[in-house]
Amino acid sequence: MNYDIKDPNLAEEGTQRIYWANRFMPVLAQIRERFAKSRPLEGIRIAACLHVTTETANLMRALKAGGAETVLCASNPLSTQDDVAASLVSDYDIPVFAIKGEDTETYYDHIDAAINFKPNITMDDGADLVSILHSADTDEKLLDNVIAGTEETTTGVIRLKSMANDGVLKYPIIAVNDAKTKHFFDNRYGTGQSTLDGIIRATNVLISGSTVVVAGYGWCGRGFASRASGLGANVIVTEVNPLTALEAIMDGFRVMPMIDAVKEADIICTITGDIHVLRHEHFETMKDGAIVANSGHFNVEIDIPALEKLSENKVTVRNFVDEYTLKDGRKIFLLAEGRLINLSSAEGHPASVMDMSFANQALSAEYIAKNYPNMENQVYVVPEQIDASIASLKLKALGVEIDQLTDEQQEYLNSWTMGT
Ligand code: NAI
Repeated sequence: MNYDIKDPNLAEEGTQRIYWANRFMPVLAQIRERFAKSRPLEGIRIAACLHVTTETANLMRALKAGGAETVLCASNPLSTQDDVAASLVSDYDIPVFAIKGEDTETYYDHIDAAINFKPNITMDDGADLVSILHSADTDEKLLDNVIAGTEETTTGVIRLKSMANDGVLKYPIIAVNDAKTKHFFDNRYGTGQSTLDGIIRATNVLISGSTVVVAGYGWCGRGFASRASGLGANVIVTEVNPLTALEAIMDGFRVMPMIDAVKEADIICTITGDIHVLRHEHFETMKDGAIVANSGHFNVEIDIPALEKLSENKVTVRNFVDEYTLKDGRKIFLLAEGRLINLSSAEGHPASVMDMSFANQALSAEYIAKNYPNMENQVYVVPEQIDASIASLKLKALGVEIDQLTDEQQEYLNSWTMGT
């Protein structure tokens, strides 16, 4: 078996941590058990470009149990957990191409290795597999093998929708991110908690009493703001969407332009999916000692070349903390080279939310295997019955029961003549 990982000897620790995550992934475990019996993915080759974490390992186990042949590469050079990669290779015979801290060339070599596996289904987190498969340099025959793909994150879905709109998307995609059981929970509670976890692990700063600025009040930003506030931070939100800005105000946060927010900020975190949200003029205005991080998908939200231009010195002062000294003597601390902080210096989302995200991935793969001949080259939402079934399974696993509509209520809710 071909693979490229840091060290196969790390497998034992990885196995234990994969098992730990599995304890919090009951929905995925149930799907894995069903898959092992019905083998819905028999004969299908799946290339996954996802963060190589304990939760992803459990997804790979489920796909394999369903009969799929799989390969895994990283969707970010800094997010790989090397012990997990080792365990997948050694204990589960799943080829992995990922090493934490790999350089850009190796990152793309690893994606090429996944593509050369000749997948029938691609599983992306950020649309790198799809875009490389669509590039002119890639052998068109590889595209012919692909029946469909799935996409995990907001930024990837945006990229894929624009490919579909331009008429260049060459196979169907299911937007896992857009399932309610994904973004309501993963983006909000998962990113909210793990982004703070990443900032705290990298810096060990006290959040309580500090002024924390969050750029973007989307699903991720909302979760982050509410959790930072819960830890006692004074939270300021920056937005470009009037409606979302209003929502942040009504949720009790201050809203202002970034140029004003940076004057007060102790910590600034971007989570927008946009480019250069923090740039030259913001660095020029920041307080001495400001901590800057990003949790959006790509490392473009902070204009790092602009920061480098303004600086006369850069030193790594802790793991994942680079101290930039500006020409006027102020210091700015950039975390994790502007890459996803929650996956760089922490472990990413807790398994309990990834349970639902990856249940969507597994069930979407099963859906593709059954329905691909009827799918067009466009971006699909996860079928509603899959979304609803995951919510029910998760509630059941949590031991929570809810009320059922009575016949009378059902009739009332479906009628416009009753009850007035
Ligand atoms: P979303 O679309 O719900 O929210 C993004 C928000 O940012 C919107 O309200 C938009 O108006 C705002 N925005 C855009 N440009 C801005 C600017 N220049 N200044 C201030 N606000 C701006 O997207 P979601 O789901 O919150 O995702 C955000 C990013 O986080 C994406 O790149 C996504 O892929 C990524 N993501 C990261 C995760 C992680 O593990 N760190 C997990 C899930 C998503």
